[in-house]
Amino acid sequence: MSQSKNKILVIGLGEIGYNNARYMTEFGLDVDGYDINAIATTKAFNDKVIKNIADNFSDYDYYVICVSTHNPRDQSIPSLNALNQVIDKLKHEAKIGALVGVDSTIPTGTTEMITEILHHRVHVVHVPHRYYNKEKDIHGVNQLRVIGGCKICCINLGKYFYEEILRIPLHTVSSSQIAELCKVTESAYRYIQIAFAEELKIVCDKAGLDFNELRNAINTKWNVQILEARDGINQHCIPKDGIMFKEFCLKYTKPQIITAAQFIDQMYRRHISPEIERRV
Ligand SMILES: NC(=O)c1ccc[n+]([C@@H]2O[C@H](COP(=O)([O-])OP(=O)(O)OC[C@H]3O[C@@H](n4cnc5c(N)ncnc54)[C@H](O)[C@@H]3O)[C@@H](O)[C@H]2O)c1
Repeated sequence: MSQSKNKILVIGLGEIGYNNARYMTEFGLDVDGYDINAIATTKAFNDKVIKNIADNFSDYDYYVICVSTHNPRDQSIPSLNALNQVIDKLKHEAKIGALVGVDSTIPTGTTEMITEILHHRVHVVHVPHRYYNKEKDIHGVNQLRVIGGCKICCINLGKYFYEEILRIPLHTVSSSQIAELCKVTESAYRYIQIAFAEELKIVCDKAGLDFNELRNAINTKWNVQILEARDGINQHCIPKDGIMFKEFCLKYTKPQIITAAQFIDQMYRRHISPEIERRV
């Protein structure tokens, strides 16, 4: 296989994009990078994670979108501004017949919208990331991922790129909506599990019982795994994905559990705020 036929552009060089690009470069692939943040591009270039800092999007065979999908002013809130800017640039500059792989977390319906905007002149797949930076070896770039697309030709090219070229194991689903919903539901499920631990901790504190002792005791049972209650549900992934999940549910029902979990997390933050203030 000629590597020169596999010119890759990683778009967005934050946590996901940088590690994606590094993984691909380590495979000996031809990887360029693009980001609106010069610090991100300079770091990736100096670290030899990308070959060139791209300006124009033409002349690539594979575009891997890793831009943020949260509001830069409040990372717990979803925003598609960055994605929309990238799609607009791809619309004018992408090579016809190339693949656009969306690794960023996106709301349901977004892959279909992108395919329509790009008039299917490129193939589009969604391959949501499951990256966990504390366990990069086992839960990094090369872990089982879900792939979905709107058209069979998109799925086929996506599978060729991610599975054959990048050697990332894939679970193929029948539509882009399933792939999109899969990712945000994974996060929402995690959100609910954390909120359960938070509520239990509040109850223990009020009852004068040791939460950790109780948790350790419960977790001796083979099918139960109560999570830790830490500083509230922070970072961008779980809170904003929880909102994406809830917004999807709201089209069809009044989602109760995620709503209660969001409420509990706020309650837990107030409960532990004196403790956090003492630590700062
Ligand atoms: N970090 C994780 O552990 C993780 C895990 C799974 C999924 N994700 C998802 O992957 C995506 C990226 O996450 P991340 O953690 O790498 O975010 P990040 O904030 O670390 O990086 C995002 C990058 O996108 C760049 N960017 C913003 N607007 C841009 C634009 N218009 N054009 C080009 N670049 C632009 C930013 O400058 C930044 O470097 C998100 O959708 C996130 O939900 C992240």
